[in-house]
Amino acid sequence: MSQQIEQRVETLRQLLNQYSYEYYVKDQPSVPDSEYDKLLHELIDIEAAHPEMKTADSPTVRVGGTAQSTFEKVKHDTPMLSLGNAFNEEDLRKFDQRIHDQIGTVEYMCELKIDGLAVSLKYENGVFVKGLTRGDGTTGEDITENLKTIHAIPLKIKKPLTFEVRGEAYMPRSSFLKLNEEKAQNDEQPFANPRNAAAGSLRQLDARLAAKRKLSVFLYSVNNFTEFDATTQSGALDELDELGFKTNQKRKKVGTIDEVLEFISYWTEQRESLSYDIDGIVIKVNDIEQQEEMGYTQKSPRWAIAYKFPAEEVVTQLHDIELSIGRTGVVTPTAILEPVRVAGTTVSRASLHNEDLIHEKDIRIGDSVVIKKAGDIIPEVVYSIVERRPEGVETYHMPTHCPSCNHELVRIEGEVALRCINPKCQAQLVEGLIHFVSRQAMNIDGLGTKIIQQLYENNKIKDVADIYYLTEEDLLPLERMGTKKVSNLLSAIEASKENSLEQLLFGLGIRHLGVKASQVIAEKYGTIDKLFDVTEEELIEIHDVGHKLAQSVVTYLDNEDIRALINKLKEKHVNMDFKGVRTTNIEGHPDFKDKTIVLTGKLHQMTRNEAAQWLELQGAKVTNSVTKKTDVVIAGDDAGSKLAKAEKFGTTVWSENDFIAKQKEIMN
Ligand code: IVH
Repeated sequence: MSQQIEQRVETLRQLLNQYSYEYYVKDQPSVPDSEYDKLLHELIDIEAAHPEMKTADSPTVRVGGTAQSTFEKVKHDTPMLSLGNAFNEEDLRKFDQRIHDQIGTVEYMCELKIDGLAVSLKYENGVFVKGLTRGDGTTGEDITENLKTIHAIPLKIKKPLTFEVRGEAYMPRSSFLKLNEEKAQNDEQPFANPRNAAAGSLRQLDARLAAKRKLSVFLYSVNNFTEFDATTQSGALDELDELGFKTNQKRKKVGTIDEVLEFISYWTEQRESLSYDIDGIVIKVNDIEQQEEMGYTQKSPRWAIAYKFPAEEVVTQLHDIELSIGRTGVVTPTAILEPVRVAGTTVSRASLHNEDLIHEKDIRIGDSVVIKKAGDIIPEVVYSIVERRPEGVETYHMPTHCPSCNHELVRIEGEVALRCINPKCQAQLVEGLIHFVSRQAMNIDGLGTKIIQQLYENNKIKDVADIYYLTEEDLLPLERMGTKKVSNLLSAIEASKENSLEQLLFGLGIRHLGVKASQVIAEKYGTIDKLFDVTEEELIEIHDVGHKLAQSVVTYLDNEDIRALINKLKEKHVNMDFKGVRTTNIEGHPDFKDKTIVLTGKLHQMTRNEAAQWLELQGAKVTNSVTKKTDVVIAGDDAGSKLAKAEKFGTTVWSENDFIAKQKEIMN
């Protein structure tokens, strides 16, 4: 009996996986929806009666399980980078020239740039085990349960591989329209565009709700090539297809930049005919070895670029200019506009940056103005239409006093910005608190501007350390706060105590200290106490740290109030040590540092991924294909063409045992 049930469960799972694949990946359903539902319910019933038969990769997980209270933050194995942008033909030709200068002739892969959210999917032995958002690029959120509801993501693939695949989750236009219709019927605020709708769906703590949202995915890259045979991007995409993943089929391999431009013109015309939104075209060097030769900048690969479709321009009215005060006291004018739709969202505000710019563009309150979204995201006033200016409209002047504290504003020499220099200015202090909890700083979810403002006004927080002294009694009386929200917020605050030093340093809001310099400094000194003794001269020696920044850091830390603040944070056990992944100056081991190593064949005592990670920690570069530059090939069982190539080039070859002996040698 039980064997029969087991067999039935196996059959049902196979059929359901096959139907999902046909419908959602291939777009060629072979059975009606009702058949799928019938089989799914049969499987749900069996699993309910025999809970021991449930598995993490059973198609029943696609309906979503129970709600979670938060998403766990997880560090990416390798950072999820973004792409450099090209906005016109000139940018693309420059990109092509750079590539030609560096490596000569290349083939390009042209792919549609899907307008959704980057996700990372991990497979272990062929089973989908973890899915993350991009987050800040270094750390993402674990949204595995929500991703499992996306039928286009295979729960199990055709080979037992262990690797990471990345791609874009998106909401098809039809699902988006349907969702907004439902929202309108329920008197709810509609989503501005499919991208926001997809983001909202993947942030649902209850996967059953995400399951209703009908998202899809296109996979576009393999993070760790060691398990793949492909040596090109096009080959990798074909391999992903074979494994059962959904990739975008509108891709094209071309040989020249002129053909890239043709592909772009074609899709600029045709983009509306697609059933999903795209915001540009991604162009990648096809050969993986050539990609590796080009390498990466801090933020993006040098071997790829994103062409962005031109921004839509729209006319609207400028009703007013509002002023806001940033955490460093800079006063920024913002245009208050008659709301209009631009590139998929409603725009009612746009930064005007500073007074000089307002005068340069002769922008006046009451004008008709042309607005667009720079990079399709940030609204910008392009110019005023002078011919339509009503009579009596006057030139705009910034006030002489701070709109928050009424202190006189100053214009620091050499700067265009007006500044409030009152250190007790409330607007600045609140902005400083908002910065401290922001994503790239302490990343405390749920502590938004409104809450911080209320807490500040109620005297509950005056400095950043006070955040760690907040109690349930402080938070419950605030507007729109319930016990659940309070408990989530307190857990987020608690969790942030474990952040690595660079996040705290950045969060303190030291003038000129950005994310990257915080990382470099935290990594170099390791703890805040060491930093207290550091001199300007020492700091300047660090690459990336200039005179202004060094001076700013030393002056900031050499201050009684700041030391007291740090002690106040220490009392609440906020971590003051660097724990991040080392991104620079990997010391490594001299036997491995800067060596190019290829792993091939089957290893027995570790996976190739583990071996690659260990090698990278020692400073080695693990690549996918054997060239004359390869220093060592580590060959497991059944190593094929790569081993043959190594022999041809006379490259050093190690067996798994040689490798383990070497590991032991340097670990002792
Ligand atoms: S490749 C190193 N290919 O565009 C980054 N990205 O900044 C490699 N995107 O957030 C990205 N379609 O999520 C690549 N066919 C495609 C893409 C694509 C959309 C997104 C990606 C990233 C952004 C680029």
